[in-house]
Amino acid sequence: EIPSLADTFVDYFPIGAAIEPFQTEGLKAELLKKHVNWLVAENVMKPDAIQPAEGVFNWTNADRIVAFAKANGMELRFHTLVWHTQVGDWFFKDAEGKPMADESDPEKREANKKLLLMRLDKHVRTIVDRYKGDITSWDVVNEVIEPGDPDGMRASDWYKITGTDYIATAFRAAREAGGPDIKLYINDYGTDDPKKRDLLYELVKGLLEQGVPIDGVGHQTHVDVHWPPVEAIIKSFRKFAELGLDNIVTELDMSIYAWDDRSDYGSDIPEDILTKQAERYGELFKAFRENKDILSGVVFWGIADDHSWLDGFPVKRTNAPLLFDRHYQAKPAFWSVVGEP
Ligand code: XIL
Repeated sequence: EIPSLADTFVDYFPIGAAIEPFQTEGLKAELLKKHVNWLVAENVMKPDAIQPAEGVFNWTNADRIVAFAKANGMELRFHTLVWHTQVGDWFFKDAEGKPMADESDPEKREANKKLLLMRLDKHVRTIVDRYKGDITSWDVVNEVIEPGDPDGMRASDWYKITGTDYIATAFRAAREAGGPDIKLYINDYGTDDPKKRDLLYELVKGLLEQGVPIDGVGHQTHVDVHWPPVEAIIKSFRKFAELGLDNIVTELDMSIYAWDDRSDYGSDIPEDILTKQAERYGELFKAFRENKDILSGVVFWGIADDHSWLDGFPVKRTNAPLLFDRHYQAKPAFWSVVGEP
């Protein structure tokens, strides 16, 4: 009998996993029930899934995950109220169907901005209102920083049309609808990279100074077996903790390939790669435990290697980024995280 992941870390922080509604039944559900006490929707709470067309809200899939969590005494995170992708085009079109970002007339641009912020406000309030009793931890915005874009802000439609106002609007609407008890996060990847980390830090600091209600930073933490150094990840937690903010690891997985490597091991993953993965997962969780005062949870982006977005990103291939293999058996990485039997 193998130990439960969540029980192992009960004195430290909750352990979560991203799931799809179909995984609330069968063997995957059993694996989740044993090992995690936190859940997040991998896709079905994203903007396009919940509000595919203006005023059309689709709760069915999201509700299935909420019901599964409740039935099994698990907590939930919400991912994500705002994103530049997996969001309906309708948000960014004016009454004539013209893309708002293409508008050059200053008066019309101003009217478009107002309309978009109103749509956003409604999207956020409607969702928070529905789930505030069930979900305490919320990704309000996702991936707004892009060091290569002007001002370090991702040049999304949101940014092109509203500047940074969409961020403030989303957090304020979430707080007003959800009250003081829900926790609001700004989520991003690569927060260990000094350049990106400092851009995010300056943005958040400025927003906090304007009274925008941000409670913490979500660090996606899509790492690989080589990169980044564990120390850089922890350094970022410390930096945000200095602002009085909470940290969560929101989307942890560990690719067996280096970032710029496009090879594919297929079904023959070398033993030494899985050993290396185990060592690194062990180091990572050691550091997480040591920093539990500034880290309030760790969520994996999946639970077993049979279902991972990394089989399709950045190219289609076989990856093995999680703690359980394709047959739901504990990998070497699992044992180095929980401690050898
Ligand atoms: C991914 C899902 O895992 C995929 O199923 C989907 O096709 C694309 O999105 N960063 C995020 C997550 O914030 O929402 C992404 O999830 C993975 C990267």
